[in-house]
Amino acid sequence: MSFVEVARIDEVPEGSMKHVEEGDAEILLAKVDGKIYAVGDRCGHMNARLSMGKLQGTTVICPLHASQFDVTTGKNVKEPVLTSIPGAEKVPELKKYSERLE
Ligand code: FES
Repeated sequence: MSFVEVARIDEVPEGSMKHVEEGDAEILLAKVDGKIYAVGDRCGHMNARLSMGKLQGTTVICPLHASQFDVTTGKNVKEPVLTSIPGAEKVPELKKYSERLE
């Protein structure tokens, strides 16, 4: 497995989100309980950028119509969208992201 550096660890403070791009992948980084998680940064409903929404605990709330996703798994936890976001991947402590999002 190879790694690609997309951000410094200090660019994602506890309880915050950051949008990064790697190639054509748009990635949401979120730090919760000292761990950084990476998931796709586009909502499957109408393509809103999730990192512009709110992070409450491990839940990101879409800024357009309030679908909710768990950033630790990418799973949808509240409608209107029913699909999960791609690429749920826990990022190791040292600021590297491992795989392209599908
Ligand atoms: Fe995310 Fe509509 S664009 S819920």
